[in-house]
Amino acid sequence: MFGMQEARVALAHDVNDTRLTGYFASRQRLLTPPWDGKQLTIGEIRRAGQDLAGDSNDLRIFGMAPVAWYALGIRILGRTAVEVTRDRYAEFMAKSVAHTLASNGCRISDVIDPFVGSGNLLYHLLQATMATRGCGLDINRDILTLTESNFSRLRLLRRLRHTRLTFQPLDWSQSPSYIENRATLVVVCPPWGDAFDEAGLDLRKTAPPVPNVLRTLRGSERSGPIFALIPTHPSMVTESVDAIKQDYTALSTIKSDDPDIFERIDYILLRL
Ligand SMILES: C[S@@+](CC[C@H](N)C(=O)[O-])C[C@H]1O[C@@H](n2cnc3c(N)ncnc32)[C@H](O)[C@@H]1O
Repeated sequence: MFGMQEARVALAHDVNDTRLTGYFASRQRLLTPPWDGKQLTIGEIRRAGQDLAGDSNDLRIFGMAPVAWYALGIRILGRTAVEVTRDRYAEFMAKSVAHTLASNGCRISDVIDPFVGSGNLLYHLLQATMATRGCGLDINRDILTLTESNFSRLRLLRRLRHTRLTFQPLDWSQSPSYIENRATLVVVCPPWGDAFDEAGLDLRKTAPPVPNVLRTLRGSERSGPIFALIPTHPSMVTESVDAIKQDYTALSTIKSDDPDIFERIDYILLRL
């Protein structure tokens, strides 16, 4: 998800051409067989962090540095090194969203992530909202199996111990059947694919398009309120945002005062 914008930030920071070439080469390698489906060793995880972000410790997830989570038996595939929402961004969004929902008098019971990937964003949202039920779907069975196993290891550390968790190897379109009649937050974070270019991120071009996912979720007709968190980028195709905001109620969002987060991450929070 954060591939192209990482490159933009690198450009903005005047990183030299060699480093950028390394970034694109590494990203391409990790998203292509056999690396995309390979479980990375700790050496490969550190190298991915170095190549993608200039920091061998960049792949911090579940509140831990790579060596710490790797020592616990947590594993990721090559493609996940590119796609994962790393701790600092996941934590920022999760705390911001939890703050806004609490300020609006809403206590979230369930968090559902239909494009769960590593589950790192789901993990931080469950922690920040103190939801008691979490559900992750992913169409890629290998990713889903690994994610489920990683969460079992987090449980051994007594993380999320009051949360009921389920993971299903399913297409996102099945997610409405996992929404119960309780206040629910759904993470809408489909692969960006070709949706991000020089014009910015166009939410109508993600795979699947974000408006389609929102329509399907709203059609679930549950009695509890449904909120949707859409992770985005500071550079957006405005028509794609306007089209969504005119159909749903947008809640206020928070900007980070950390320049690294501010330049890379933004989000939309809706009540459907
Ligand atoms: C950008 S990643 C999500 C990253 C996640 N937020 C994290 O923190 O790791 C998108 C995920 O959506 C999954 N995916 C793609 N198409 C899907 C579909 N039709 N239904 C469910 N999952 C899908 C991919 O396998 C991938 O793991």
